[in-house]
Amino acid sequence: MSQSTRVLVTGGSGFLGGHIVQHLFQDPATTVAIVSRKPKSTSSDARISYHAADITDETRIKALFDEIKPHAVIHTVSPHHTDAASALIRTNIDGTKTLLKAAKACHETQAFVYTSSDSALQPTQVPLTEDKAVLYTETHYVRCYGMTKAVADALVQAANGSELGTAVIRLPSIYGEDDTNFLPQLVSGLRKKEHKMQVGKNKKVFEFVYVKKAAEAHILASRALLDSQKAPAVAGQAFFISDGIPQPFFDFARKCYAAAGSPVKPEEVTSIPLGAMKVMASLGEWIYFIFTLGAKTPTLRRDGIDHLDGGACWSIEKARRILGYEPVADQDEAIKISMDWAMKNC
Ligand SMILES: NC(=O)c1ccc[n+]([C@@H]2O[C@H](COP(=O)([O-])OP(=O)(O)OC[C@H]3O[C@@H](n4cnc5c(N)ncnc54)[C@H](OP(=O)(O)O)[C@@H]3O)[C@@H](O)[C@H]2O)c1
Repeated sequence: MSQSTRVLVTGGSGFLGGHIVQHLFQDPATTVAIVSRKPKSTSSDARISYHAADITDETRIKALFDEIKPHAVIHTVSPHHTDAASALIRTNIDGTKTLLKAAKACHETQAFVYTSSDSALQPTQVPLTEDKAVLYTETHYVRCYGMTKAVADALVQAANGSELGTAVIRLPSIYGEDDTNFLPQLVSGLRKKEHKMQVGKNKKVFEFVYVKKAAEAHILASRALLDSQKAPAVAGQAFFISDGIPQPFFDFARKCYAAAGSPVKPEEVTSIPLGAMKVMASLGEWIYFIFTLGAKTPTLRRDGIDHLDGGACWSIEKARRILGYEPVADQDEAIKISMDWAMKNC
């Protein structure tokens, strides 16, 4: 970043947001303001400030922009994909609108980068480019989480203009140190000795991204938006970011198990039909709903199983060409580092 750049990171205490903050800190001239409902103070460095705020609170968000006057906003906030539809709509759609309005009204704010998701897009099995990608809409979608991520993705692209440059970073499943979702689930499966099971035929490919590279992509985009020479090519654009190695979901999971010292031979794999898992997951959700009146939800969720029926296959050529993004040089090494962390911490 250039001299004295102020960056506001929403969700900066979360998994991805935390890595973005660490990466931003590598530049001594950058100051970072973390905004989330309960930000975790992890550093006493004067260059970092913590601000408790719900992004849907318009008055509070406007006051924060008046106080921080950020040059760039990196917006990573989202509820978990299994959260209630009302929370997803309020946070991802209304919250993103609130941030965009505040960013546009703040004279100093020139760049706005949003974290989108593979869940926002119709699945593909051949390398997809951004110009061919189809976002879900409020009237055509499969899962509420994906719909809200898609609507926010489109809102951020459309908000691009002379007073604010915007960009969207689209990510698949993220793995890496401090993960609270994906790797903990793999470790839990390993400890319950469920790691030799797979759901479905494991034919559809998915993208994955190492968290430090996902973080770097956001910073490349925000830097470019603040650079008058680079900004025109980036402003109003969406970028696919991944490790660039599409592969079947359980192939990736088994690489993680092997890195944790528990390799699975092909002949040891037990397959559960996808259709059967969908029925089991739906039944489980109904039983939990009836007996807990919606207070608890099962670990096995229908939308998680539906996700396995989707898949993603992306071209990252646009990000390489325009942002200068390079995926992780050695995915096996990144998996090893991630699983070493996960086995010690999950
Ligand atoms: N993890 C993945 O595999 C993955 C894949 C694709 C895309 N993404 C996207 O990447 C982004 C980051 O994901 P993550 O896995 O890092 O999630 P995360 O660890 O749960 O971080 C999200 C943060 O958002 C904050 N937050 C939630 N609701 C808020 C609200 N109303 N106002 C203010 N802050 C709020 C939470 O902090 P507080 O509790 O303190 O508010 C939380 O720390 C999300 O946009 C997600 O959709 C993630």
